[in-house]
Amino acid sequence: MGKRTWLAWALLVALIASACGPAATPAPGTEGPAGTEPSAGGGEVEVFSWWTAGGEAEGLAAMVEVFNAEHPEFTLVNAAVAGGAGTNARAVLATRLSANDPPASWQGHAGQELIGTYVAAGQIQPLNDLYEAEGWLELMPETLIPLISQDGNIYSVPVNIHRANVLWYNPEVLAANSIEVPTNAEEFFAAAATLQAAGLTPLAMGEAWTAMHLFETVLLGTVGADTYNALWDGTGDWNSPEVTEAIEHFAAALDYTNSDASTLTWDQAAQLVADGDAAFTVMGDWAEGFFKGLGLTPMEGFGWAPAPGTDGVFQFLSDSFVLPVGTPNPEGSSAWLTVAGSKAGQEAFNPIKGSICARTDCDPSLFDEYLQSAMQDWTTDVVVGSLTHGVVANDNWKAEINTALGLFLADRDVAVFQSALATACAATGACQ
Ligand code: GAL
Repeated sequence: MGKRTWLAWALLVALIASACGPAATPAPGTEGPAGTEPSAGGGEVEVFSWWTAGGEAEGLAAMVEVFNAEHPEFTLVNAAVAGGAGTNARAVLATRLSANDPPASWQGHAGQELIGTYVAAGQIQPLNDLYEAEGWLELMPETLIPLISQDGNIYSVPVNIHRANVLWYNPEVLAANSIEVPTNAEEFFAAAATLQAAGLTPLAMGEAWTAMHLFETVLLGTVGADTYNALWDGTGDWNSPEVTEAIEHFAAALDYTNSDASTLTWDQAAQLVADGDAAFTVMGDWAEGFFKGLGLTPMEGFGWAPAPGTDGVFQFLSDSFVLPVGTPNPEGSSAWLTVAGSKAGQEAFNPIKGSICARTDCDPSLFDEYLQSAMQDWTTDVVVGSLTHGVVANDNWKAEINTALGLFLADRDVAVFQSALATACAATGACQ
């Protein structure tokens, strides 16, 4: 599906949603836990995320500073749980939700993670009134609204747009080995062979979810945007030869990764690149927040390019915050969400986080060279969604893929992995 088709789809969903009419939406901040009075203002506001690594923790702190300045009546409690991409945080959250103990707000990805998981389970409240009061419908990208909406209700406040398909590299390592930045699989594997012969780690990778992240970008780079989208919207064929080729590329890429990958977090893998022990890593652009946090300068200390084969395609994800059913502090939740969607909040957060604003009116001059290029690409590239970060598959489907991927990392059996991917699509009802 090209960008135009994507947008047409997005508009269609938005039209259907609006045709259903405005839902009877409880005003944000008016619904407390059953049997409790809404808070009169003040108290603790617990904000739940997984932003604990370099760049992301500082970005959150900058947004919290805006919140504290605007809302001295509340005490913000940062309930971040370490573990990139929400690996641990989401398990803790699930336990808390089943015990009816939600935080005031939590971080959730726009797309299927939100709609196919939290909305499906009735765990979050619509935010239509807040959108109306803040004028956000005019300010948030039209690509995004359908991905955070169902039946005319909008369910989250997006704080950013991240790009997943980025190849980060160490410019000095490439220069010292006379390597040009690879643009496709063939060039990448040639560069990787040279680097390996020179005793370097060609491709730094971390724990399991970073392998899934690598897989989704290799899949995209091999099959192209249209086929990639078709695989997720149920019209594609997971048993096709293109998918076989993508898995073969993925297996070949794994052969160039560090042997201790499973013990490293995403930022420890990125550190290998910063230190010159590895040449490349494929990671979302929170890595740019991390590199800058180390004091590195864009294009000097670290470089970037679209992951091989993905030039002109922006594989996106969006961090957003939600209003829990039964929030312990309705006014506090509403205050946090208002800051998260505000210009001041997003301008404080994103330049440090390594993401661009979800809002369309942020001042570009606040952003560095990399982020300005991401802003440009977001508006001109073909936009597709990330698997690892919640856009294209709901939790059930993603969990099936994760299990198959875990086996593949151990046995590298291409046919078994491919057949498990096809089964996962059918089993979760996405493929007819
Ligand atoms: C992603 C999240 C990013 C970043 C990353 C690593 O899932 O969307 O904001 O935090 O995990 O932790």
